[in-house]
Amino acid sequence: MKKSLEDHAARFDEIASEYDESSSDEYRACANLVIEHAAPNPDDVVLDLGTGTGAIALALAPDAERVVGRDISEGMMEEAQRKADAEGLENLEFGYGTFRDPSYDGDVDVVTSNFAMHHLSDAEKREAIAVIADLEPRAFVLGDVMFFGEPDPEEPFYSPEVDDPATVGVLADAFTDAGFSLTAVERVHDQVGVLVAERGPAGSASLTAADRDE
Ligand SMILES: C[S@@+](CC[C@H](N)C(=O)[O-])C[C@H]1O[C@@H](n2cnc3c(N)ncnc32)[C@H](O)[C@@H]1O
Repeated sequence: MKKSLEDHAARFDEIASEYDESSSDEYRACANLVIEHAAPNPDDVVLDLGTGTGAIALALAPDAERVVGRDISEGMMEEAQRKADAEGLENLEFGYGTFRDPSYDGDVDVVTSNFAMHHLSDAEKREAIAVIADLEPRAFVLGDVMFFGEPDPEEPFYSPEVDDPATVGVLADAFTDAGFSLTAVERVHDQVGVLVAERGPAGSASLTAADRDE
């Protein structure tokens, strides 16, 4: 992590009220794929890490039994709660938690995260994926900034001074080392993708990568 948790929380607190207006096409495509792949059952509990203003949590809540959102920015979660209240959604709860210590020890069926884990270093991502595996979810759907090829400094998601995206290979290794099997890989952009990791017997990754730029 190039910045401390406090630095990241302060940065997101500051932009929380405008965050929803600032999204890119790639962010929206990524969020939509996370929602599509998460596809919770009516009796599923979903844990959304780095939940922010609740883009994923609110979209999944109508289909799930309960959604638990965790983040380090109180400002972002206040926005999420305000939107949940406005939509009359009562099966969501938001609270402080990090990737490596989500502060949640109940049952979890599906873990999601969108555009948040790239704030961690690769070693911290490995730790976080191991912590998530210990929660024994059926699946972990991760949408994020991630490098499919050589990082291109000209591309819009390249900001090494703030963030620390992993290569898809590093993430795939971390998932398999933690006992997940990769069952889908979606390439939204050279630097943005969605990985679907499922627990259970080792399986082969089915590369359903589609070039969303076209
Ligand atoms: C770009 S926002 C994405 C929010 C939301 N998932 C979405 O798709 O709109 C990233 C979020 O990750 C949170 N975050 C950053 N580092 C974190 C960490 N170590 N643990 C939990 N949340 C973190 C930030 O506070 C911020 O709300």
